[in-house]
Amino acid sequence: MKIAFFSFKPYEKQFFDIANESAQHEIVYHCAHLTTETAVLAKGFPAICCFVSDTLDAKVLTQLVEFGVKLVALRSAGYNHVDLACAKKLGLKIVRVPAYSPYAVAEHAVGLILALNRKIHRAYNRVREHDFSLHGLMGFDLHQTTVGIIGTGNIGKVFARIMQGFGCHLLAYDPLVNPECTKLGVDYVELSELYQRADIISLHCPLTPDTFHMINAQALQQMKPGVMIINTSRGAVIDTTAVIKALKSQHIGYLGLDVYEEEDDLFFEDLSDKVIQDDVFARLQTFPNVIITGHQGFFTKQALQNIALITIKNLDAFCNGKLENEVVAK
Ligand code: NAI
Repeated sequence: MKIAFFSFKPYEKQFFDIANESAQHEIVYHCAHLTTETAVLAKGFPAICCFVSDTLDAKVLTQLVEFGVKLVALRSAGYNHVDLACAKKLGLKIVRVPAYSPYAVAEHAVGLILALNRKIHRAYNRVREHDFSLHGLMGFDLHQTTVGIIGTGNIGKVFARIMQGFGCHLLAYDPLVNPECTKLGVDYVELSELYQRADIISLHCPLTPDTFHMINAQALQQMKPGVMIINTSRGAVIDTTAVIKALKSQHIGYLGLDVYEEEDDLFFEDLSDKVIQDDVFARLQTFPNVIITGHQGFFTKQALQNIALITIKNLDAFCNGKLENEVVAK
C-alpha cells in the first residue's frame, strides 16, 4: 500500500526500513508537518502516517478525505490532537500505537526528578567552569518522600514501580484503580488529598476535557510549599500561567516539563538561531528550578522500534480489511 508519512525525522527511517522489510509498503517520507497547506501531499495515498506535531482538525481531515485518504495511522499513543468526531462523520479511520515503551516515558520522568532534586543541570555547568563549590546544590533523599501519581495506566504503573524502588510512599489518583498498583502498595486517594500530601506530583494522565488545566491556581493552592511537579503527559494538563505565578512566589519548589501547552510552535525543530516569540515559554526558562525537555520522553531505541513495528502491523491489518488499535469518538 502507498503511505505518505508526515513530520518524518531521519532518525525514524532505520526502524521503519526494518519493520517494513516483509510487507514492502511503498512509503513516501515528508519532513513537513501536516497542515491545510501540506495536506495536498496526501493526494493519491490511501493511508497517511502522522505524529503529534501534525494538525488533524476538521479542516485537514476533510481535505484528506477529498484527496482519497481512508486511513490515518498515528505514530503516537496520544490522540488528543485528532478531531475524532469529525473523522467518524467522514468515515476516516484512525489507528494508533497504544503502548510502545512505558519505560521510556516513566524513566524520563524519574530523570527529571533526579536532575531537579540534585541540581545536576546546574552542577554540570558549574564544573565545566571549574567552580567546584556546592552552595545551592543541596538536594533531599527521595527515600521516605511522598510521591503522588496522577494517572496509573501503562506509564504511571511503571513510574510507581521505579519510585517504590527509591523507598517512596506512593499515592495515586485515577478514576480507574489499577490492581497492579494496589499490589505495589499504592494508596488511591482523592485528588485534593494527593495535592495536600505529596512532595512530588507526576502527571501520567491523558489530555481530555476533564484534565485540561487540571493543575491550575486552585490545585496549586492545595499543594505543599516547595512541591515538585513533573509533567511528561500533555502540556495543557498544566495551566502554565498559574504555574509561573506559583514559581515566582516560590510555592512550587521544582518543575520538570517534557511537554508544554504551546509546544507545536517550538518542539521537534532546531530554532537555535531564531528569536523565540513565546513569552510564557521564555519566562519559564528563566527559573533555576525548572527543567524543560522538548517532548523526548518517548525517545528511546526500544520505543522507536516498537512504534515502527506496531505502525506497520496496523497498516498490514488495514490492507487485509481489518482495523487494529483503532480510536473512535465516544
Ligand atoms: P494509559 O491510557 O495507559 O493510562 C492513562 C491513565 O490515566 C488511565 O489509567 C486513565 O484511567 C487515567 N486517567 C484518565 N483520566 C484521568 C483523570 N481525569 N485523572 C487521573 N487519571 C486519569 O496511557 P499511558 O500510556 O500511560 O500514557 C499516559 C499519557 O502519557 C498519554 O496520554 C500521553 O499524553 C503521555 N505520553 C507522553 C509521551 C512523551 O513522550 N512525553 C509519550 C507517550 C505518552
